[in-house]
Formats: sequence, structure tokens, C-alpha cells
Amino acid sequence: MILTITLNTSIDKAYRLASPLVDGTVMRVEECIDNAGGKGLNVSRSVLTCGEEVLATGFAGGNNGRLLCELLDRDGVPHDFVAVESETRCCINVLEPSGRSTEFLEPGRKVGEESLAELEKRVSALLSSADVVTISGSIPKGLSTNAYTRLISLVKSQGKPCILDTSGNTLVASIDSLPTAIKPNADEIAQILGREVGSIDELAHAARELHGRGIEKVIVSLGGDGAIMACAEGIFRGVAPKIEVVNPVGAGDTMVGALAVGMKRRLEAPEQLRYAMACASANCLSASTGHFEMEVAERLLEQTVVERIA
Ligand SMILES: Nc1ncnc2c1ncn2[C@@H]1O[C@H](COP(=O)(O)OP(=O)(O)OP(=O)(O)O)[C@@H](O)[C@H]1O
Ligand SMILES: [Mg+2]
Repeated sequence: MILTITLNTSIDKAYRLASPLVDGTVMRVEECIDNAGGKGLNVSRSVLTCGEEVLATGFAGGNNGRLLCELLDRDGVPHDFVAVESETRCCINVLEPSGRSTEFLEPGRKVGEESLAELEKRVSALLSSADVVTISGSIPKGLSTNAYTRLISLVKSQGKPCILDTSGNTLVASIDSLPTAIKPNADEIAQILGREVGSIDELAHAARELHGRGIEKVIVSLGGDGAIMACAEGIFRGVAPKIEVVNPVGAGDTMVGALAVGMKRRLEAPEQLRYAMACASANCLSASTGHFEMEVAERLLEQTVVERIA
């Protein structure tokens, strides 16, 4: 089973408008589509699409927390959240007929340290049946940036691999706890190193540097330019197939879910990358965020090339 941890869950609401958005007026919404959101829940759906068992944990609170669980039931994602007092946030995406979208992201309400302690107990109990653990997204207000450090140490102390996918200060603060694998994009690798990294050579060097610090697998995802991976087996370059992108949002989350599956199945390292990339490219061909079809991924797998560069 793959255990996914999402601390900052949300109800993602897509508001479809019948006419263009006019600032400062009353707008009627044609259709409202609710989804269980938070990057780790995209990871959970990706694992299911790959055909492996998943369990989603993290925090859920109030009426929105209950709705979140209902939406996950609808998607067939098993879950075991720690109930918190503060209401789970909503993120609203206003979609106009032109395709333009405007997002309103609530910051997420405060979660207390006692809830993190409870989550640690929950994760600890679930670890014996977990093959791989993923930690995704931001940390809610009220918790210190060392929340992921604590969770990573806990997972590693029980000998389980842990993939971390986050950004900004949280990523910088968590890197020293040496997660088993990380999947920064180009912006995030620059945040970790505190310097711009541009060329493929520089990116490969940066990935090798982080691997040298003790992170077993460093995958830098580069959107349509594919990915670079540094691991014990060498440095690899993944070339993504040329596709007509429909919606690239959540491709990284899909990649993390498929990587966890590849690790669970003990595929060879370059095959783990190729599989994760093919699923992520398939995500770009699906209109709904963080969703893909396995038949599409299988077709793209044949067109995804991974080669050793060092
Ligand atoms: N335009 C594209 N064409 C083909 N494959 C793509 C494209 N964009 C992304 N991918 C695949 O998806 C992977 C992850 O994409 P990306 O680097 O954009 O992740 P990300 O920035 O973490 O995304 P997010 O955080 O929104 O989930 C890439 O390494 C690549 O394999
Ligand atoms: Mg990402």
C-alpha cells in the first residue's frame, strides 16, 4: 500500500460561468464542480489509476472535512484523516467561456501542534502496511516548518521510503532530514540551492549534489523538457514525448504517485523514471487536474526515453 500524507487538504470548487467575469458585479455560476483537493490527493488518485492500493491521511476538519471524505469515497480513495477543529479550506477556480481561469486559494486555517502529534501516532500505526510514503504540498498555519522533518524522520525510522514534494521555505527546511526521494521542478531546485540552475548540465550537477548529500533519488521535473534523475545507478535524462497539452496542472503530482508505484514494484531506477514520466505526460492530455488514463500512459511509455548521461 502507498500511504499519502496531505496536511493542507482543500475542497476545490470549479465555478463555470456562462458569460465573461465582470469585476465588481454579481456573477451567477452556471455549474459548480467539487473535488477533494490538495496535492497529496492528486497523488492518491494517480496511485489508484496505476492499479495499486493507496491510503490517504492528513488533516480534515468541520463540514468541509466531511465533504472531503465523501468526495474521496466517490473517487474510491480510501482515507484515514486526523479530525481537526478548524474547517478544511476551499479553493475556488472561476472558469470563463473563453477558457480564462481565476483562482482564489484560501490560506488554510490554523492547525495545532497537538494535531500533528496525533497524526504522527496515526502514521506510525499505518507504517507497517505501507510500502512507500509520500508527503505533498504546503503545511497549514499554526504548525512550524519542521512538521515534515518530523514526519520524514518517523517514516525513515521504520525503514520505509519517503518521497517529499513541496516548495519554498518548507522544502528548504525539510531537505536536511533527507527524504528518500524528492521531485522538485526547476523553480524548486533553485529554491533548495539558493541559486539559478538553467542548463541541463547545471541541473544534472545540482541533482548530483543533492544526491551526494544523502537523498537517494533526486528527480528534477522540467515540464515538456522531461526530467533529470540522480541516484546510485547514475545520472539519467528523461525525454518526454511531444504532445498537444490539454491541462498540465498536477503533472508533478501524478509523477510522484507513479514514482511511488514504480518504487513499490521495485522497477529498475531508470524504469521508475520512465513510468513516472509517461503517467505525468498522460496527465497533461486530460482536462481534469491531476487525472490521467492508464491506456494513454501505456501508449506514451513507448515514446518516453530515458538515457544515462553520467
Ligand atoms: N508539455 C509536456 N509534454 C510532455 N510531458 C510533460 C509536459 N509537461 C509535463 N510533462 C511531464 O510531467 C512531468 C512533471 O511536470 P512538471 O515539471 O510541470 O511538474 P510540476 O511543476 O511539479 O507540476 P505540478 O506541481 O503542477 O503537479 C515532466 O517531468 C514530464 O515528464
Ligand atoms: Mg509540483
